[in-house]
Amino acid sequence: MKIVQAASEFFPYVKTGGLADAVAALAGALVERGHEVEVFVPGYRAVVDHPDAAEAKTLLRPKIEMGDVFMSGEIRVFSPREGLRVYLVCRDEFFDRRHPYGTGERDFEDNHHRFIFFCKGVVETMRLLRMNVDAVHCHDWQTGLLPLLLRHAEQRHGDILAMRTVFTVHNLAFQGVFPMRSFYRTNLPDELMGIDGVEFYGQMSMMKAGILFADRVATVSPTYAREIQTSEQGCGLEGVVATRADELRGLTNGIDRSVWDPATDTLLPATYTAKNLKGKWTCREELLRRHGFDPDFGGPIYGMVCRLTTQKGVDLVLANREFFKRENVRLIVLGRGEPELEKGLRELAAAMPKRVALSTRMDETMSHLVTAGSDFFLMPSRFEPCGLSQMYSQVYGTIPIVTRVGGLADTVTDIDAEGGEGTGIQVSLSPEGLLHGLERARALHADKRRLVEVQLRGMRRDFGWGETVRAYEGLYVDED
Ligand code: ADP
Ligand code: GLC
Repeated sequence: MKIVQAASEFFPYVKTGGLADAVAALAGALVERGHEVEVFVPGYRAVVDHPDAAEAKTLLRPKIEMGDVFMSGEIRVFSPREGLRVYLVCRDEFFDRRHPYGTGERDFEDNHHRFIFFCKGVVETMRLLRMNVDAVHCHDWQTGLLPLLLRHAEQRHGDILAMRTVFTVHNLAFQGVFPMRSFYRTNLPDELMGIDGVEFYGQMSMMKAGILFADRVATVSPTYAREIQTSEQGCGLEGVVATRADELRGLTNGIDRSVWDPATDTLLPATYTAKNLKGKWTCREELLRRHGFDPDFGGPIYGMVCRLTTQKGVDLVLANREFFKRENVRLIVLGRGEPELEKGLRELAAAMPKRVALSTRMDETMSHLVTAGSDFFLMPSRFEPCGLSQMYSQVYGTIPIVTRVGGLADTVTDIDAEGGEGTGIQVSLSPEGLLHGLERARALHADKRRLVEVQLRGMRRDFGWGETVRAYEGLYVDED
């Protein structure tokens, strides 16, 4: 098959969270299955400056219709591996910026124009290159308008660009809602401005457009697929999701072993396997040293790597200040995000510099070191569509402490659950719930035999793309 993937993030070129890893890993898994994959991403500065893009060639300089004006763009392409081509939809005015979505606390004010332009750039490139494909797979709100724009262009030009459109919801909490007055930039028919179209409480919702108008819809775990049909987790879109409830698929992401495997990880000071854990102790020492702690510290290390948002339950960690004050443990956090949460963590680290460390930067190398060198990985999320870090940590022999939501519920079994196959610690979503988990972890750490048993079980888990990639293939071609 020939498949287009359109997304706002793609590892290793541009990443703010798991979307980048998931889309890149899916693309890689499809290539391995023999498909031809064409990836479209905005030509952000980080992508254009990446060494892989140094040999990118300019293919087209289309004029993109944006309401009553035409804006020029540039389409560049490079191929990081056989079977995979990456197309950059460039326009410096929109994408030559340091961050994909905003600065500090605020989103860019022209995000609607930027992502309408991106989606239109994808359609125009497909049309001009006569790239007739089996499926166009769109991810999250930034590409929500793409299914509509694609069908609209097909009608206008009398050409079939794609047999299928597929839309995957990675996180319903980010919806791409903008003033309706910007709708005219889409050049879509006015009747789509209504409640059966893109309208959401008087505004335009790009996420809603994707959910309603793609031929097939999916999200990133079975539990999340159920959760987003409820008013608690539906973020106001539960009614829209319900209209497609029969077809909505919950397909759990896999992990990319070429990037996340302790046996081959080039970002670690030492590699290791389930047969020989020695390298894990080297990683542990290095992690402690890098944070100014005694490398010989023998107690439990709790690691955390995430976007610092309410989603990730950072406040629950902060609420357990007393635990970190009382116990001789280490807490190492790598993350950036909401200023309030950063501040809270910074204060915690300042109050207990011998126990708690915080780094507020995006650091891929350090994220691997925290994942490898910690004993426990904290992920007490309020909601978690899929979550990749809890899977990474399990295969790195680091035991995740998770709430029972979304993909966390689907990929982690508690160590005390029946069957004795557990690889993680499940906690309820409250400060006391997390405290109980932190204490269970500390007790497990003291029982070295059981600790290693649990670690090894996690390391032997697969988390491959097998089933999910086959399910997506089905969505790309199945009969109605
Ligand atoms: P989400 O997509 O909600 O952020 P996931 O668990 O799916 O959650 O993916 C998070 C990804 O982002 C992981 O690869 C994690 O290592 C990475 N990440 C988050 N914050 C940072 C950071 N500050 N530095 C490096 N990587 C980070
Ligand atoms: C989103 C979700 C996360 C998921 C990722 C990849 O960012 O928050 O749970 O793992 O997308 O699908």
